[in-house]
Amino acid sequence: MKNSYKELIEQTYYFPQEGFDLYDGTLHFNGIDLKKIIDTYGTPFRINYLPKIREQIKEARSLFNKAMAKHSYEGSYEFCYCTKCCHFSHVVKTALKENVSLETSSSFDIDLILKLYEQSALTKETTIVHNGIKTEEYIEKIRFLQKQGFEHTITILDSVQELDRITMHKLDRPIKIGLRITIDEEPQAAYYTSRLGINKRELLELVKEKIQPNPLLELHMIHFFVDSGIKDNLYYWGEFKKALQLYTQIKQLAPSLQALNIGGGFPIRNSLGFEYDYEYIVDEIVRNIKITCVEAQVSVPDIYTEFGKYTVGESGAVIFRVIEQKQQNDTELWYIIDNSLMNTIPDAWSINEKFILLPINKWEHSYKRIHIGGISCDHSDYYNSEQLNQQILLPAYEDKKDEDPLYIGFFHTGAYQDAISGYGGIKHCLIPSPRQIVVDKNEHGNLIDYLYRDEQSVSNMLSILGYDE
Ligand SMILES: Cc1ncc(COP(=O)(O)O)c(C=O)c1O
Repeated sequence: MKNSYKELIEQTYYFPQEGFDLYDGTLHFNGIDLKKIIDTYGTPFRINYLPKIREQIKEARSLFNKAMAKHSYEGSYEFCYCTKCCHFSHVVKTALKENVSLETSSSFDIDLILKLYEQSALTKETTIVHNGIKTEEYIEKIRFLQKQGFEHTITILDSVQELDRITMHKLDRPIKIGLRITIDEEPQAAYYTSRLGINKRELLELVKEKIQPNPLLELHMIHFFVDSGIKDNLYYWGEFKKALQLYTQIKQLAPSLQALNIGGGFPIRNSLGFEYDYEYIVDEIVRNIKITCVEAQVSVPDIYTEFGKYTVGESGAVIFRVIEQKQQNDTELWYIIDNSLMNTIPDAWSINEKFILLPINKWEHSYKRIHIGGISCDHSDYYNSEQLNQQILLPAYEDKKDEDPLYIGFFHTGAYQDAISGYGGIKHCLIPSPRQIVVDKNEHGNLIDYLYRDEQSVSNMLSILGYDE
């Protein structure tokens, strides 16, 4: 007896599950009929489902507010969207409609903020947290923003030298600053202490000697971010507790301190078997902050988060057509897709990130072990294992002229992939950036889709390369 791909998935995971369902034998993603989108626009394409962004913001707020109510927490929760995970205007504007604060990471980000202001997507009241290493250009633009009357900008110092560079600019009234605490990395990391942030030895001295005596500096926020994510393990809670101890020590020196920013790091579903207890983690975060502050006899801070991947990751997918099958030996069958994986989901190649991979059609077919290959000439342009599985299983089919092609999708690819792959720039082997489709809901709650950008054109790429001069 041959089992179908559909049976395989139903027996291995809870399926259908949030965001994924089958109708008439084809996969629907958050209610989007992907086969219809394929028939309308053609592959390959990226798709962005904006309502998911709104849902994630609401969910994070609800989790924190619930935990705060439970622990009689007197501070507030602030959801900050970090632009670096997806800068597209439709994405940032969707987040802003939920009244989020923003986090910037470089000088161009300030131009992005000014554009959003020009387009009335934010106001001078919007809170903006400036992270990242401050080049002279970045500092100048932050100062420009402050002089334009953006009252709620918080410049997070990444080093002691940054403070000197900022105070070299004539400050005419107090500015809000924050301090990023350096964290120690996980034991298996390539180095012990992160290059980001100010090391713990220098912090207290900096506060006592340079910040507190300066009436033009108002220390408002402590920032710390464990880059490997918020995980329920000894390492994460160890770093978290060290940061809390520092927070209370600094608060005793600087009463203006009011906020603790725990950065990003909330995970997303990268497998249909993904499990993570968001409610428990948030509860632990809030409970630990409260306990530590009560013990140290300081007031609790407002809690800021800068969830990037969590906000937009699950809103995105990239869909391909299998253009050819290649049986390279008895056991290795390749499905060659109509773009490059290195160019479209670069995290899969560079940091071995996994995404949910599912076929769009042929769910009734039997399945086979498959390697997926991109059309670049690079041997690294492949994907052949999943988060919970060292192999990939996909529907088998005959590679014949009259047989419908197989379409496959990598899901939850909405964060970082465009920025890291340099959307619309020079591409490996000149394989163009795929078209981008946006899906939203109209005022009646019905899905609407539109082409945001067509596939990158040859003239665009050759022009970047100087061929039209
Ligand atoms: C300072 C800071 N905040 C937030 C984020 C977002 O992290 P994530 O996408 O894991 O939530 C990053 C990611 O690099 C970061 O550097």
